Amino acid sequence: MSEKDLFQGTLLAWIGLAPIIALVLLKIAAPYGRHGKGKVGPRIPARLGWFLMELPALVVFPVLAAIRGDLGSPVLILLLAMWVLHYGNRAVVYPWRLRAGSPMPVVILLSGMTFNVINGTFLGLGLSLFDSPRGLEWFADPRPWLGLALFLGGFAMNLNADAILRGLRKAGQGGYSIPRAGFYRFVSCPNYLGEIVEWTGWAIVAWSLPGLAFAVWTVANLLPRALTHHQWYRRTFPDYPAQRKAILPFLL
Ligand SMILES: NC(=O)c1ccc[n+]([C@@H]2O[C@H](COP(=O)([O-])OP(=O)(O)OC[C@H]3O[C@@H](n4cnc5c(N)ncnc54)[C@H](OP(=O)(O)O)[C@@H]3O)[C@@H](O)[C@H]2O)c1
Repeated sequence: MSEKDLFQGTLLAWIGLAPIIALVLLKIAAPYGRHGKGKVGPRIPARLGWFLMELPALVVFPVLAAIRGDLGSPVLILLLAMWVLHYGNRAVVYPWRLRAGSPMPVVILLSGMTFNVINGTFLGLGLSLFDSPRGLEWFADPRPWLGLALFLGGFAMNLNADAILRGLRKAGQGGYSIPRAGFYRFVSCPNYLGEIVEWTGWAIVAWSLPGLAFAVWTVANLLPRALTHHQWYRRTFPDYPAQRKAILPFLL
């Protein structure tokens, strides 16, 4: 078996694990934020937790791509630029701007870091060694442009949704209220919807198995959590807007 076959077999197994984890997450919500109030061991401040958890994502894929990849490839450069745009926000700007997020359980920090290292490694090795991005001619095809548009649209939706949630709390205060602005008129979790649209777009630009794996895992993490958040909102607020869906406007 060649190294490439081994890599692709491992990556397929990783993709196969995603729906199983999604089913588990439907039953047991990842214990952080509003779903992390029970006994989940030690916690660290939310800002530090988000920074440490997302740092490996910001670093691992770009470093592997820089060491092993063809940095003359405009497609790889575009993928890296999109990546750093998202994870520069998630690892640095998002934690810095957080108002009063619930302290993060260390178990969530460690599992998030592990997840980010695994995905960054698959992407870094995949997109630099085994499944290099296409050449400049790829831009003559509509797919990378569609992917880029989805990525930017999803990023904007995610940023806007995160900002609306931030605006619901005064500095230093906790507690939850019903978000009513922007895409929250349609769904309970436009932050997750935006993130899923983003990584679907990124996977279309990459058009490769590692990119698909990352998009699949994003859905596996965020779709169950959106459904759980939605049920929580309905249970918690009797006046929760009845027509609002969990994550897909008018559908789900
Ligand atoms: N790619 C991935 O796999 C992945 C996984 C997880 C998260 N993310 C992204 O990371 C970001 C944060 O995710 P998250 O799961 O922490 O989102 P979240 O549960 O919606 O919470 C985001 C922040 O807003 C606060 N908040 C949420 N709902 C609120 C309400 N109704 N009233 C007042 N404050 C509220 C939360 O406080 P508390 O902390 O106190 O609840 C937290 O500080 C999102 O943009 C998400 O897309 C990505």
